[in-house]
Amino acid sequence: MGIKILTEHIQQPELHKFEVYRKTGGYAAVEKALKTMSPDGVMEEVKKSGLRGRGGAGFPAGLKWSFLDRKTTNPRYLICNADESEPGTFKDRYLMQYNPHALIEGMILASYALGANTSYIYIRGELFYVFRILERAIAEAYANGFLGKKILGTDYSLDIYVHPGAGAYICGEETALLESLEGKRGNPRLKPPFPAVSGLYSCPTVVNNVETLAVVPWIINNSGDDYAKIGIGRSTGTKLISASGHINNPGVYEIELGLPVEEFIYSDQYCGGIKDGKQLKAVVAGGSSVPILPAHLITTTAAGQPRLMSYESLSEGGFETGTMLGSGGFIVMDENTCIVRNLYNFTRFYRHESCGQCSPCREGTSWMEKILIRLENGEGRMHDIDLLVNISKNIEGKTICPLGDAAAWPVASAIRHFREEFVEHVNRKGCWFS
Ligand SMILES: Cc1cc2nc3c(=O)[nH]c(=O)nc-3n(C[C@H](O)[C@H](O)[C@H](O)COP(=O)(O)O)c2cc1C
Repeated sequence: MGIKILTEHIQQPELHKFEVYRKTGGYAAVEKALKTMSPDGVMEEVKKSGLRGRGGAGFPAGLKWSFLDRKTTNPRYLICNADESEPGTFKDRYLMQYNPHALIEGMILASYALGANTSYIYIRGELFYVFRILERAIAEAYANGFLGKKILGTDYSLDIYVHPGAGAYICGEETALLESLEGKRGNPRLKPPFPAVSGLYSCPTVVNNVETLAVVPWIINNSGDDYAKIGIGRSTGTKLISASGHINNPGVYEIELGLPVEEFIYSDQYCGGIKDGKQLKAVVAGGSSVPILPAHLITTTAAGQPRLMSYESLSEGGFETGTMLGSGGFIVMDENTCIVRNLYNFTRFYRHESCGQCSPCREGTSWMEKILIRLENGEGRMHDIDLLVNISKNIEGKTICPLGDAAAWPVASAIRHFREEFVEHVNRKGCWFS
């Protein structure tokens, strides 16, 4: 099954409880780091590990930490981004529900490395039951001396607070998250300044995804070098993949990066093949925002190489013939899936979730949605297809935050790879899929 880091003990009953987590070796990394390592030493291990942020962009975590303004006399903050609202992505919820102490332990280590004495978990509002689980786990960590003043008798003190959002996808964008945490409407900020310089309350701040932080205890217990040996090339370590759609075994899987996509889809250890023996039509590999790929490009690259579950292999060929690993939301579509209807569904989501600050995104997502409804309902015109491409090009790269890109890429890629299906919707005056 390959190496497991985050899910090694996930089947252990009551792992969410402190004593059970402790018995599996939990909090040993905090003991090791606080008693024998300097904050820079912890950061160095994370840098060596090559760990890349698991929230979508894949930015190297240790490098991001090193950007934090260390000369400031202001407080520094670590924020865990647990907003997880990307359609197709549900791995952070799984991790927090079953293994909340791994996240808390990772946050203690990261906060120590960054010199932060206050940290926040910003959690998606709908996950209220997970909010409760986290609050209980944090209380247990305080009761056992792993949080609060002078942790384990050292000079290091840390408080962690959990803050529920109100169910807005945009608040997962890190600067919108900061606004929301400050009690304001979650509108993304212009960058620069980047959060590492001016983040929460204008203080230096690092925002990391749940999965990124939860893997840090393993890196400290073992070593950055050991972590870097797992995976492939610059895609080090393991990755949680949320698998959904027309597959036999939907769920969350921890894979070693570098696993062939074909094996991930067809092996019984993972997705278990396409449901009801149907043919694979397309895959959205990294959450709804990333370009869709047709079957022949998802298992093999345009150059004829096996496509692997890694940052580099999935993006091979650029957006012409590749996609992105993103947040690991792997949505599988069978031969009976209508690409136009699926795209309408995604676009409706982005129109609803656009914060409205930037006109290209606010207006463009709404126009694209209207055109897609038209096409799906048999009222589309042939030039609507190029109009959709045109609108998507006028959104891409022209907004304050990447939500605009996230709305544009699915449209451009669906038409690039499945244009004939759009044409057929016009010719047949509607959709023929049931
Ligand atoms: C619209 C939008 C929504 C996002 N939602 C999330 C999210 O729910 N969780 C997350 O970790 N990152 C999300 N991101 C990415 C964050 O802005 C940021 O890159 C990430 O939290 C950094 O963590 P990492 O470096 O550990 O990946 C989102 C980005 C955008 C543009």
